[in-house]
Amino acid sequence: MSKVMRLDKFLSEMGIASRKETKEYAKKGRIKVNDAIVKSSDYKIDTDKDIVTFDGRTIAYEQFEYYMLNKPAGVVSATVDNNDRTVIDLIDSERKKDLFPVGRLDKDTVGLLIITNDGELAHSLLSPVKHIDKKYFARVEGIITEEHIKRFKEGLKLKDGTLTKPAQLEIIKSGNDKSDNISEVEITICEGKYHQIKRMIACVGGKVIYLKRLSMGSLKLDENLREGEYRRLTEDEIKCLQNGNGEQ
Ligand code: URA
Repeated sequence: MSKVMRLDKFLSEMGIASRKETKEYAKKGRIKVNDAIVKSSDYKIDTDKDIVTFDGRTIAYEQFEYYMLNKPAGVVSATVDNNDRTVIDLIDSERKKDLFPVGRLDKDTVGLLIITNDGELAHSLLSPVKHIDKKYFARVEGIITEEHIKRFKEGLKLKDGTLTKPAQLEIIKSGNDKSDNISEVEITICEGKYHQIKRMIACVGGKVIYLKRLSMGSLKLDENLREGEYRRLTEDEIKCLQNGNGEQ
């Protein structure tokens, strides 16, 4: 979509220079629009038609931003909140006011959260008809055993009567007795009901004490990101997510 905007806004949104820096660089003749030096940073450009270069390098306009956040506990998956810090507060971007999280993780859940301003992609990733897989690691108070795998596979009837779609349960560690009643599991679900993992575990008599999202469709949480850290998605990661079902 074509946009008319000031040169300084354009360069700061593309992460090239702050508005103040753009003013200086423009004065020094380092910025050209369609091969002509532009000395004023409030010059208006059309993102579709004009070619902007900085030090000879062409700066392509990117309409959307895509981030992978390793969500920490204690922040809410919202754009604004009166009481708590939001996931958007963690992102440093010129387009902060347009960004939103793709879906929600509970306040105490950590792990993969996509942040973007691309409503179409978000809608397609969250669409119930697309069945995008979401994989979680959970530490559970309670003993989860092989028997539960079948129940998850068949779909569970939650305590309020809600039926879940088939889910995959992998046991990493099964608590075995009173002295060790902590189990660790990985659960893959293709829907996103409210508190779904916690309710599924409660349904088989356990209590989730730690929950982390590991992946969403083809996108895996980057292990180099510590909680609270984020990075931009790569071109390939974006393409895979756009590829219909989010699978590679
Ligand atoms: N299931 C939950 O119970 N909580 C989350 O945050 C995500 C999935």
